[in-house]
Amino acid sequence: MEDTNINFSMETLETDDVKQIPAQGELTPRQIVAELDKYIVGQHEAKRCVAVVVRNRYRRRCLDVHLQEDILPKNIIMIGPTGVGKTEIARRLAKLVDAPFIKVEATKFTEVGYVGRDVESIIRDLVETSIRMVKAQKVAQVEDKARQAAELRILDMLQPLPNRRSGSVPFASIFGDKVPSSHEESTSDEEAKAKRDEIRRRRVWLRDQLSKGALDKEQVEIEVEEEPPKMAMGMEEMGIDMQGILGSIMPKKTKKRKVSIAEARRIITQEEAEKLIDNDEVTHEAIERAEQGGIVFLDEIDKIAGGEGGHGPDISRGGVQRDILPIVEGCTVMTKYGPVKSDYILFIAAGAFHLTKPADLIPELQGRFPLRVELDSLNCQDLRRILLEPRHSLIQQYTELLKVDGVDVHFTEDGIDALAEIAHKVNCNTENIGARRLHTVMEKVLEDLLYDAPEAASGQVDIDRAYVEGKLSTIACDEDMSRFIL
Ligand SMILES: Nc1ncnc2c1ncn2[C@@H]1O[C@H](COP(=O)(O)OP(=O)(O)OP(=O)(O)O)[C@@H](O)[C@H]1O
Ligand SMILES: [Mg+2]
Repeated sequence: MEDTNINFSMETLETDDVKQIPAQGELTPRQIVAELDKYIVGQHEAKRCVAVVVRNRYRRRCLDVHLQEDILPKNIIMIGPTGVGKTEIARRLAKLVDAPFIKVEATKFTEVGYVGRDVESIIRDLVETSIRMVKAQKVAQVEDKARQAAELRILDMLQPLPNRRSGSVPFASIFGDKVPSSHEESTSDEEAKAKRDEIRRRRVWLRDQLSKGALDKEQVEIEVEEEPPKMAMGMEEMGIDMQGILGSIMPKKTKKRKVSIAEARRIITQEEAEKLIDNDEVTHEAIERAEQGGIVFLDEIDKIAGGEGGHGPDISRGGVQRDILPIVEGCTVMTKYGPVKSDYILFIAAGAFHLTKPADLIPELQGRFPLRVELDSLNCQDLRRILLEPRHSLIQQYTELLKVDGVDVHFTEDGIDALAEIAHKVNCNTENIGARRLHTVMEKVLEDLLYDAPEAASGQVDIDRAYVEGKLSTIACDEDMSRFIL
Protein backbone atom coordinates (compact mmCIF):
# COMPACT_ATOMS: atom_id res chain seq x y z
CA MET A 1 0.00 0.00 0.00
CA GLU A 2 2.77 2.38 0.95
CA ASP A 3 4.60 1.66 -2.25
CA THR A 4 1.65 2.60 -4.38
CA ASN A 5 1.32 5.78 -2.47
CA ILE A 6 4.86 6.76 -3.21
CA ASN A 7 4.51 5.81 -6.86
CA PHE A 8 1.40 7.84 -7.12
CA SER A 9 2.98 10.99 -5.84
CA MET A 10 6.13 10.48 -7.89
CA GLU A 11 4.08 10.10 -11.01
CA THR A 12 2.02 13.20 -10.49
CA LEU A 13 5.05 15.19 -9.53
CA GLU A 14 6.50 14.59 -12.96
CA THR A 15 3.56 16.17 -14.68
CA ASP A 16 3.11 19.88 -14.77
CA ASP A 17 0.75 19.80 -11.84
CA VAL A 18 3.23 21.26 -9.42
CA LYS A 19 2.46 24.89 -8.87
CA GLN A 20 5.12 27.48 -9.16
CA ILE A 21 6.55 28.48 -5.83
CA PRO A 22 4.94 31.77 -4.95
CA ALA A 23 7.03 34.66 -3.73
CA GLN A 24 4.94 35.14 -0.60
CA GLY A 25 6.01 31.80 0.74
CA GLU A 26 9.56 32.92 1.19
CA LEU A 27 9.43 33.70 4.89
CA THR A 28 9.92 30.77 7.23
CA PRO A 29 7.99 30.62 10.50
CA ARG A 30 11.01 31.86 12.41
CA GLN A 31 11.47 34.75 10.01
CA ILE A 32 7.80 35.66 10.28
CA VAL A 33 8.03 35.74 14.06
CA ALA A 34 11.19 37.81 13.85
CA GLU A 35 9.41 40.31 11.60
CA LEU A 36 6.39 40.47 13.90
CA ASP A 37 8.73 41.04 16.82
CA LYS A 38 9.65 44.36 15.28
CA TYR A 39 6.13 45.65 15.88
CA ILE A 40 4.58 43.60 18.64
CA VAL A 41 6.00 43.00 22.07
CA GLY A 42 5.65 39.53 23.59
CA GLN A 43 2.70 37.30 22.60
CA HIS A 44 5.18 34.78 21.32
CA GLU A 45 2.73 31.91 21.25
CA ALA A 46 0.25 33.76 19.05
CA LYS A 47 3.02 34.84 16.71
CA ARG A 48 4.27 31.28 16.42
CA CYS A 49 0.80 30.04 15.70
CA VAL A 50 0.06 32.47 12.87
CA ALA A 51 3.54 31.99 11.45
CA VAL A 52 3.04 28.24 11.18
CA VAL A 53 -0.35 28.61 9.56
CA VAL A 54 0.97 31.02 6.98
CA ARG A 55 3.94 28.85 6.20
CA ASN A 56 1.63 25.87 5.86
CA ARG A 57 -0.24 27.64 3.12
CA TYR A 58 2.99 28.02 1.23
CA ARG A 59 3.92 24.40 1.90
CA ARG A 60 0.55 23.34 0.60
CA ARG A 61 1.00 25.23 -2.61
CA CYS A 62 4.22 23.38 -3.33
CA LEU A 63 2.38 20.07 -3.32
CA ASP A 64 0.70 18.33 -6.18
CA VAL A 65 -2.71 19.83 -6.94
CA HIS A 66 -4.76 16.80 -6.02
CA LEU A 67 -3.31 16.73 -2.56
CA GLN A 68 -3.62 20.51 -2.35
CA GLU A 69 -7.35 20.29 -2.76
CA ASP A 70 -7.68 18.25 0.40
CA ILE A 71 -5.52 20.41 2.62
CA LEU A 72 -7.69 23.04 4.20
CA PRO A 73 -6.33 25.95 6.19
CA LYS A 74 -6.35 25.57 9.94
CA ASN A 75 -8.21 28.59 11.18
CA ILE A 76 -7.25 30.26 14.42
CA ILE A 77 -9.08 31.72 17.38
CA MET A 78 -7.05 34.26 19.32
CA ILE A 79 -8.26 34.62 22.85
CA GLY A 80 -7.15 37.56 24.91
CA PRO A 81 -8.28 40.71 26.66
CA THR A 82 -8.69 43.96 24.82
CA GLY A 83 -5.67 45.91 23.62
CA VAL A 84 -3.04 43.21 23.84
CA GLY A 85 -2.23 42.96 20.15
CA LYS A 86 -4.71 40.58 18.54
CA THR A 87 -5.65 42.84 15.67
CA GLU A 88 -2.14 44.17 15.41
CA ILE A 89 -0.70 40.70 14.88
CA ALA A 90 -3.19 39.88 12.14
CA ARG A 91 -2.71 43.21 10.42
CA ARG A 92 1.07 43.06 10.43
CA LEU A 93 0.98 39.48 9.29
CA ALA A 94 -1.14 40.28 6.26
CA LYS A 95 1.19 43.13 5.32
CA LEU A 96 4.18 40.90 5.76
CA VAL A 97 3.01 38.20 3.43
CA ASP A 98 1.36 40.69 1.08
CA ALA A 99 -1.98 38.92 1.34
CA PRO A 100 -5.41 40.41 0.73
CA PHE A 101 -6.67 41.14 4.22
CA ILE A 102 -9.87 42.43 5.72
CA LYS A 103 -11.00 42.87 9.27
CA VAL A 104 -14.65 42.53 10.10
CA GLU A 105 -16.59 42.59 13.33
CA ALA A 106 -18.67 39.48 13.74
CA THR A 107 -21.30 41.55 15.50
CA LYS A 108 -21.98 43.50 12.30
CA PHE A 109 -23.59 40.53 10.68
CA THR A 110 -27.10 39.39 10.99
CA GLU A 111 -29.11 36.40 10.10
CA VAL A 112 -30.54 36.41 6.61
CA GLY A 113 -33.66 38.49 6.58
CA TYR A 114 -32.66 40.87 9.36
CA VAL A 115 -31.34 44.34 8.93
CA GLY A 116 -27.55 44.35 8.84
CA ARG A 117 -24.79 43.15 6.58
CA ASP A 118 -24.98 39.71 5.13
CA VAL A 119 -21.98 37.48 5.61
CA GLU A 120 -21.26 37.03 1.93
CA SER A 121 -20.14 40.64 1.85
CA ILE A 122 -17.01 39.48 3.70
CA ILE A 123 -15.86 37.63 0.62
CA ARG A 124 -16.91 40.45 -1.69
CA ASP A 125 -14.89 42.94 0.32
CA LEU A 126 -11.91 40.62 0.32
CA VAL A 127 -12.00 40.34 -3.45
CA GLU A 128 -12.32 44.09 -3.72
CA THR A 129 -9.16 44.45 -1.60
CA SER A 130 -7.39 41.88 -3.70
CA ILE A 131 -8.34 43.65 -6.93
CA ARG A 132 -6.96 46.89 -5.54
CA MET A 133 -3.69 45.24 -4.56
CA VAL A 134 -3.17 43.47 -7.87
CA LYS A 135 -4.10 46.56 -9.81
CA ALA A 136 -1.66 48.71 -7.88
CA GLN A 137 1.07 46.20 -8.59
CA LYS A 138 0.29 46.07 -12.28
CA VAL A 139 0.14 49.83 -12.49
CA ALA A 140 3.54 50.05 -10.83
CA GLN A 141 4.90 47.64 -13.40
CA VAL A 142 3.77 49.74 -16.34
CA GLU A 143 4.34 53.10 -14.73
CA ASP A 144 7.43 54.05 -16.69
CA LYS A 145 5.79 53.19 -19.96
CA ALA A 146 2.60 55.02 -19.03
CA ARG A 147 4.55 58.09 -18.01
CA GLN A 148 6.39 58.16 -21.29
CA ALA A 149 3.14 57.83 -23.19
CA ALA A 150 1.64 60.60 -21.10
CA GLU A 151 4.52 62.93 -21.80
CA LEU A 152 4.18 62.23 -25.47
CA ARG A 153 0.50 63.12 -25.33
CA ILE A 154 1.24 66.34 -23.51
CA LEU A 155 3.92 67.10 -26.04
CA ASP A 156 1.40 66.61 -28.84
CA MET A 157 -0.92 68.99 -27.10
CA LEU A 158 1.72 71.67 -26.73
CA GLN A 159 3.24 71.25 -30.14
CA PRO A 160 1.38 69.04 -32.60
CA LEU A 161 3.37 67.12 -35.17
CA PRO A 162 4.33 69.08 -38.27
CA ASN A 163 2.20 67.28 -40.85
CA ARG A 164 -0.98 68.17 -39.00
CA ARG A 165 -2.19 71.54 -40.17
CA SER A 166 -3.51 73.54 -37.33
CA GLY A 167 -4.10 77.23 -37.39
CA SER A 168 -2.96 78.06 -33.90
CA VAL A 169 0.09 76.83 -32.09
CA PRO A 170 -0.97 76.41 -28.46
CA PHE A 171 2.57 76.10 -27.31
CA ALA A 172 3.47 79.51 -28.65
CA SER A 173 0.51 81.08 -26.94
CA ILE A 174 1.59 79.68 -23.61
CA PHE A 175 5.24 80.48 -23.72
CA GLY A 176 5.01 83.67 -25.67
CA ASP A 177 8.39 84.69 -26.88
CA LYS A 178 10.45 82.20 -24.88
CA VAL A 179 10.94 80.26 -28.08
CA PRO A 180 10.96 81.68 -31.57
CA SER A 181 7.60 80.97 -33.21
CA SER A 182 6.95 80.28 -36.84
CA HIS A 183 3.65 81.73 -37.82
CA GLU A 184 4.41 82.76 -41.39
CA GLU A 185 2.60 80.62 -43.90
CA SER A 186 5.13 78.81 -45.96
CA THR A 187 4.51 78.42 -49.65
CA SER A 188 7.61 76.95 -51.17
CA ASP A 189 8.83 73.44 -50.36
CA GLU A 190 11.95 74.78 -48.80
CA GLU A 191 10.06 76.93 -46.42
CA ALA A 192 7.76 74.04 -45.51
CA LYS A 193 10.74 71.86 -44.75
CA ALA A 194 12.34 74.56 -42.65
CA LYS A 195 9.15 74.86 -40.70
CA ARG A 196 8.94 71.13 -40.11
CA ASP A 197 12.51 71.08 -38.91
CA GLU A 198 11.85 73.94 -36.60
CA ILE A 199 8.82 72.22 -35.11
CA ARG A 200 10.85 69.08 -34.62
CA ARG A 201 13.55 71.02 -32.90
CA ARG A 202 11.01 72.62 -30.69
CA ARG A 203 9.50 69.27 -29.81
CA VAL A 204 12.90 67.98 -28.81
CA TRP A 205 13.44 71.02 -26.63
CA LEU A 206 9.96 70.75 -25.12
CA ARG A 207 10.32 67.07 -24.46
CA ASP A 208 13.50 67.71 -22.58
CA GLN A 209 11.86 70.46 -20.55
CA LEU A 210 8.86 68.24 -19.85
CA SER A 211 10.90 65.34 -18.59
CA LYS A 212 12.97 67.66 -16.44
CA GLY A 213 9.74 68.95 -14.93
CA ALA A 214 10.63 72.50 -15.90
CA LEU A 215 7.14 73.12 -17.28
CA ASP A 216 5.24 71.55 -14.39
CA LYS A 217 3.62 74.80 -13.35
CA GLU A 218 2.31 75.81 -16.79
CA GLN A 219 -1.38 75.34 -17.48
CA VAL A 220 -2.87 73.14 -20.16
CA GLU A 221 -6.37 72.15 -21.08
CA ILE A 222 -7.04 68.45 -21.15
CA GLU A 223 -10.06 66.26 -21.65
CA VAL A 224 -10.88 64.07 -18.70
CA GLU A 225 -13.44 61.34 -18.43
CA GLU A 226 -16.31 62.20 -16.17
CA GLU A 227 -16.98 59.85 -13.30
CA PRO A 228 -20.17 57.96 -14.02
CA PRO A 229 -22.81 58.68 -11.39
CA LYS A 230 -22.73 56.30 -8.45
CA MET A 231 -25.54 53.81 -8.48
CA ALA A 232 -27.63 52.47 -5.65
CA MET A 233 -25.72 49.86 -3.68
CA GLY A 234 -28.43 47.19 -3.51
CA MET A 235 -27.31 45.50 -6.70
CA GLU A 236 -23.81 44.93 -5.35
CA GLU A 237 -25.24 42.64 -2.76
CA MET A 238 -26.47 40.33 -5.45
CA GLY A 239 -23.10 40.24 -7.13
CA ILE A 240 -24.32 42.26 -10.07
CA ASP A 241 -22.02 44.89 -11.43
CA MET A 242 -24.55 47.58 -12.34
CA GLN A 243 -21.82 50.17 -12.66
CA GLY A 244 -19.95 48.02 -15.14
CA ILE A 245 -23.06 47.15 -17.12
CA LEU A 246 -24.29 50.71 -17.39
CA GLY A 247 -20.80 51.99 -18.01
CA SER A 248 -20.49 49.81 -21.07
CA ILE A 249 -23.88 50.84 -22.46
CA MET A 250 -23.63 54.55 -21.91
CA PRO A 251 -21.05 56.54 -23.84
CA LYS A 252 -18.24 57.91 -21.72
CA LYS A 253 -18.67 61.59 -21.05
CA THR A 254 -15.64 63.80 -21.16
CA LYS A 255 -15.15 67.31 -20.01
CA LYS A 256 -12.43 69.87 -20.46
CA ARG A 257 -10.34 70.92 -17.51
CA LYS A 258 -7.53 73.37 -17.15
CA VAL A 259 -4.78 71.88 -15.05
CA SER A 260 -1.09 72.28 -14.46
CA ILE A 261 1.21 70.15 -16.54
CA ALA A 262 2.23 68.22 -13.44
CA GLU A 263 -1.39 67.35 -12.77
CA ALA A 264 -2.01 66.59 -16.44
CA ARG A 265 0.92 64.22 -16.37
CA ARG A 266 -0.54 62.43 -13.37
CA ILE A 267 -4.02 62.15 -14.88
CA ILE A 268 -2.84 61.06 -18.29
CA THR A 269 -0.34 58.61 -16.81
CA GLN A 270 -3.22 57.00 -14.98
CA GLU A 271 -5.25 56.80 -18.15
CA GLU A 272 -2.36 55.32 -20.06
CA ALA A 273 -1.63 52.81 -17.31
CA GLU A 274 -5.28 51.79 -17.39
CA LYS A 275 -4.90 51.09 -21.10
CA LEU A 276 -1.73 49.11 -20.61
CA ILE A 277 -3.00 46.71 -17.99
CA ASP A 278 -5.27 43.87 -18.85
CA ASN A 279 -8.31 44.03 -16.62
CA ASP A 280 -9.27 40.43 -17.20
CA GLU A 281 -5.85 39.41 -16.05
CA VAL A 282 -6.17 41.60 -12.96
CA THR A 283 -9.52 40.06 -12.11
CA HIS A 284 -8.25 36.55 -12.65
CA GLU A 285 -5.15 37.10 -10.57
CA ALA A 286 -7.02 38.93 -7.83
CA ILE A 287 -9.59 36.18 -7.44
CA GLU A 288 -6.86 33.56 -7.35
CA ARG A 289 -5.02 35.56 -4.72
CA ALA A 290 -8.08 36.10 -2.58
CA GLU A 291 -9.00 32.44 -2.77
CA GLN A 292 -5.56 31.07 -2.06
CA GLY A 293 -3.96 33.74 0.06
CA GLY A 294 -6.77 35.80 1.54
CA ILE A 295 -6.92 36.40 5.27
CA VAL A 296 -10.16 37.35 7.01
CA PHE A 297 -9.91 38.66 10.54
CA LEU A 298 -13.17 38.04 12.37
CA ASP A 299 -13.12 40.27 15.40
CA GLU A 300 -15.47 40.06 18.38
CA ILE A 301 -16.26 36.44 17.70
CA ASP A 302 -16.99 35.98 21.42
CA LYS A 303 -19.91 38.37 21.11
CA ILE A 304 -21.80 35.99 18.87
CA ALA A 305 -20.96 32.92 20.92
CA GLY A 306 -23.57 31.35 23.14
CA GLY A 307 -27.17 32.37 23.12
CA GLU A 308 -28.54 29.10 21.79
CA GLY A 309 -32.13 28.93 22.94
CA GLY A 310 -31.85 32.28 24.69
CA HIS A 311 -34.27 35.13 24.67
CA GLY A 312 -34.48 38.41 22.85
CA PRO A 313 -31.50 39.47 20.79
CA ASP A 314 -29.62 36.35 21.84
CA ILE A 315 -31.67 34.25 19.50
CA SER A 316 -29.91 35.62 16.47
CA ARG A 317 -26.42 34.81 17.75
CA GLY A 318 -26.77 31.17 16.89
CA GLY A 319 -28.26 32.27 13.61
CA VAL A 320 -25.30 34.49 12.76
CA GLN A 321 -22.92 31.68 13.59
CA ARG A 322 -24.86 29.38 11.35
CA ASP A 323 -24.68 31.97 8.59
CA ILE A 324 -20.96 32.42 8.99
CA LEU A 325 -20.41 28.69 8.93
CA PRO A 326 -20.70 28.07 5.17
CA ILE A 327 -18.23 30.87 4.45
CA VAL A 328 -15.71 29.49 6.88
CA GLU A 329 -16.39 25.94 5.84
CA GLY A 330 -15.95 26.73 2.19
CA CYS A 331 -18.54 27.83 -0.32
CA THR A 332 -18.77 29.80 -3.51
CA VAL A 333 -19.84 33.40 -3.32
CA MET A 334 -21.01 35.34 -6.35
CA THR A 335 -19.19 38.62 -6.68
CA LYS A 336 -19.26 41.14 -9.46
CA TYR A 337 -15.92 39.77 -10.61
CA GLY A 338 -17.22 36.22 -10.78
CA PRO A 339 -17.61 33.32 -8.40
CA VAL A 340 -15.12 33.13 -5.55
CA LYS A 341 -14.45 30.03 -3.49
CA SER A 342 -13.88 30.56 0.19
CA ASP A 343 -12.46 27.10 0.90
CA TYR A 344 -8.83 28.11 1.29
CA ILE A 345 -9.25 31.56 2.75
CA LEU A 346 -7.67 31.78 6.17
CA PHE A 347 -9.91 32.95 8.98
CA ILE A 348 -8.44 34.35 12.15
CA ALA A 349 -11.09 34.95 14.76
CA ALA A 350 -10.46 36.95 17.89
CA GLY A 351 -12.30 37.74 21.04
CA ALA A 352 -11.85 38.45 24.69
CA PHE A 353 -14.14 35.59 25.76
CA HIS A 354 -14.84 37.16 29.11
CA LEU A 355 -18.44 36.07 29.36
CA THR A 356 -18.40 33.21 26.90
CA LYS A 357 -15.99 30.43 25.98
CA PRO A 358 -14.98 29.10 22.59
CA ALA A 359 -16.96 26.02 23.63
CA ASP A 360 -20.10 28.16 23.47
CA LEU A 361 -19.77 28.48 19.72
CA ILE A 362 -21.87 26.03 17.77
CA PRO A 363 -19.93 22.77 17.36
CA GLU A 364 -19.63 23.03 13.59
CA LEU A 365 -17.96 26.42 13.92
CA GLN A 366 -15.65 25.22 16.68
CA GLY A 367 -14.49 22.48 14.38
CA ARG A 368 -13.50 24.98 11.75
CA PHE A 369 -11.27 26.83 14.19
CA PRO A 370 -9.01 24.07 15.40
CA LEU A 371 -6.19 26.32 16.57
CA ARG A 372 -6.67 28.19 19.82
CA VAL A 373 -4.11 30.54 21.13
CA GLU A 374 -4.20 32.70 24.20
CA LEU A 375 -2.64 36.13 24.41
CA ASP A 376 -1.25 37.33 27.69
CA SER A 377 -2.46 40.45 29.36
CA LEU A 378 0.25 43.05 29.55
CA ASN A 379 2.23 43.68 32.71
CA CYS A 380 4.23 46.74 33.62
CA GLN A 381 7.37 45.46 31.93
CA ASP A 382 5.46 44.74 28.70
CA LEU A 383 4.00 48.23 28.70
CA ARG A 384 7.44 49.71 29.13
CA ARG A 385 8.73 47.74 26.19
CA ILE A 386 5.72 48.73 24.07
CA LEU A 387 6.54 52.36 24.71
CA LEU A 388 10.06 51.90 23.49
CA GLU A 389 10.68 48.92 21.28
CA PRO A 390 8.24 48.60 18.38
CA ARG A 391 9.16 50.25 15.14
CA HIS A 392 7.55 53.71 15.21
CA SER A 393 6.83 53.34 18.89
CA LEU A 394 4.71 55.87 20.72
CA ILE A 395 7.75 57.62 22.12
CA GLN A 396 9.28 57.94 18.71
CA GLN A 397 6.01 59.24 17.28
CA TYR A 398 5.66 62.02 19.82
CA THR A 399 9.34 62.90 19.69
CA GLU A 400 9.15 63.37 15.94
CA LEU A 401 5.87 65.28 16.10
CA LEU A 402 7.26 67.78 18.56
CA LYS A 403 10.53 68.08 16.70
CA VAL A 404 8.57 69.66 13.87
CA ASP A 405 7.82 72.58 16.17
CA GLY A 406 11.33 72.86 17.51
CA VAL A 407 10.81 71.02 20.79
CA ASP A 408 13.39 68.37 21.45
CA VAL A 409 11.74 66.02 23.93
CA HIS A 410 13.93 63.51 25.61
CA PHE A 411 12.40 60.66 27.58
CA THR A 412 14.68 59.55 30.40
CA GLU A 413 14.80 55.97 31.64
CA ASP A 414 12.99 56.77 34.87
CA GLY A 415 10.45 58.83 32.97
CA ILE A 416 9.59 55.83 30.82
CA ASP A 417 9.41 53.68 33.96
CA ALA A 418 6.95 56.10 35.44
CA LEU A 419 4.78 56.16 32.32
CA ALA A 420 4.59 52.36 32.27
CA GLU A 421 3.90 52.13 35.98
CA ILE A 422 1.07 54.63 35.86
CA ALA A 423 -0.48 53.01 32.80
CA HIS A 424 -0.29 49.65 34.50
CA LYS A 425 -1.72 50.99 37.71
CA VAL A 426 -4.68 52.58 35.97
CA ASN A 427 -5.25 49.37 34.04
CA CYS A 428 -5.37 47.44 37.30
CA ASN A 429 -7.56 49.89 39.17
CA THR A 430 -10.08 50.60 36.45
CA GLU A 431 -10.80 48.84 33.18
CA ASN A 432 -7.87 46.93 31.70
CA ILE A 433 -7.60 48.27 28.16
CA GLY A 434 -4.11 46.95 27.57
CA ALA A 435 -1.65 48.91 25.49
CA ARG A 436 -4.33 51.39 24.50
CA ARG A 437 -3.86 52.88 27.97
CA LEU A 438 -0.47 54.11 26.88
CA HIS A 439 -2.10 56.36 24.32
CA THR A 440 -4.25 58.12 26.90
CA VAL A 441 -1.38 58.40 29.35
CA MET A 442 1.02 59.82 26.78
CA GLU A 443 -1.55 62.29 25.52
CA LYS A 444 -2.16 63.52 29.05
CA VAL A 445 1.53 63.86 29.93
CA LEU A 446 2.37 65.75 26.79
CA GLU A 447 -0.88 67.72 26.63
CA ASP A 448 0.62 71.06 27.64
CA LEU A 449 3.75 70.64 25.62
CA LEU A 450 1.76 69.77 22.52
CA TYR A 451 -0.28 72.92 23.02
CA ASP A 452 2.56 75.25 23.91
CA ALA A 453 4.84 74.40 21.04
CA PRO A 454 6.12 76.31 19.21
CA GLU A 455 5.33 79.66 20.91
CA ALA A 456 5.70 78.87 24.59
CA ALA A 457 7.93 75.81 24.43
CA SER A 458 11.14 75.15 22.58
CA GLY A 459 14.55 73.58 22.96
CA GLN A 460 15.22 70.43 24.94
CA VAL A 461 12.60 69.16 27.37
CA ASP A 462 13.40 66.21 29.59
CA ILE A 463 10.50 63.93 30.38
CA ASP A 464 11.67 62.31 33.58
CA ARG A 465 9.86 60.71 36.49
CA ALA A 466 9.23 64.05 38.17
CA TYR A 467 7.72 65.48 35.00
CA VAL A 468 5.45 62.47 34.44
CA GLU A 469 4.33 62.27 38.04
CA GLY A 470 3.80 65.99 38.17
CA LYS A 471 1.33 65.73 35.32
CA LEU A 472 -0.31 62.48 36.29
CA SER A 473 0.01 61.42 39.89
CA THR A 474 -3.06 63.24 41.18
CA ILE A 475 -5.18 61.76 38.44
CA ALA A 476 -3.71 58.28 38.63
CA CYS A 477 -4.15 58.03 42.39
CA ASP A 478 -7.79 59.01 42.29
CA GLU A 479 -9.72 56.09 40.88
CA ASP A 480 -12.71 58.16 39.88
CA MET A 481 -10.65 60.76 38.15
CA SER A 482 -8.61 58.23 36.22
CA ARG A 483 -11.80 56.56 35.13
CA PHE A 484 -12.76 59.76 33.37
CA ILE A 485 -9.49 61.21 32.28
CA LEU A 486 -7.11 58.35 31.50
N1 LIG B 1 1.97 43.43 22.47
C1 LIG B 1 1.92 44.63 21.88
N2 LIG B 1 3.02 45.19 21.37
C2 LIG B 1 2.98 46.41 20.78
N3 LIG B 1 1.88 47.15 20.66
C3 LIG B 1 0.74 46.64 21.14
C4 LIG B 1 0.71 45.36 21.78
N4 LIG B 1 -0.54 45.13 22.16
C5 LIG B 1 -1.26 46.17 21.78
N5 LIG B 1 -0.50 47.10 21.16
C6 LIG B 1 -0.97 48.37 20.64
O1 LIG B 1 -2.21 48.68 21.25
C7 LIG B 1 -3.19 49.05 20.32
C8 LIG B 1 -4.36 48.11 20.38
O2 LIG B 1 -3.97 46.80 20.00
P1 LIG B 1 -4.91 45.82 19.16
O3 LIG B 1 -5.73 46.60 18.22
O4 LIG B 1 -4.08 44.76 18.59
O5 LIG B 1 -5.82 45.26 20.33
P2 LIG B 1 -6.76 43.99 20.32
O6 LIG B 1 -6.05 42.91 21.05
O7 LIG B 1 -7.18 43.68 18.95
O8 LIG B 1 -7.96 44.51 21.21
P3 LIG B 1 -9.56 44.38 20.99
O9 LIG B 1 -9.95 43.10 21.64
O10 LIG B 1 -10.10 45.55 21.74
O11 LIG B 1 -9.84 44.43 19.55
C9 LIG B 1 -2.50 49.09 18.98
O12 LIG B 1 -2.15 50.41 18.72
C10 LIG B 1 -1.27 48.26 19.16
O13 LIG B 1 -0.21 48.75 18.40
MG1 LIG C 1 -8.92 44.13 17.90
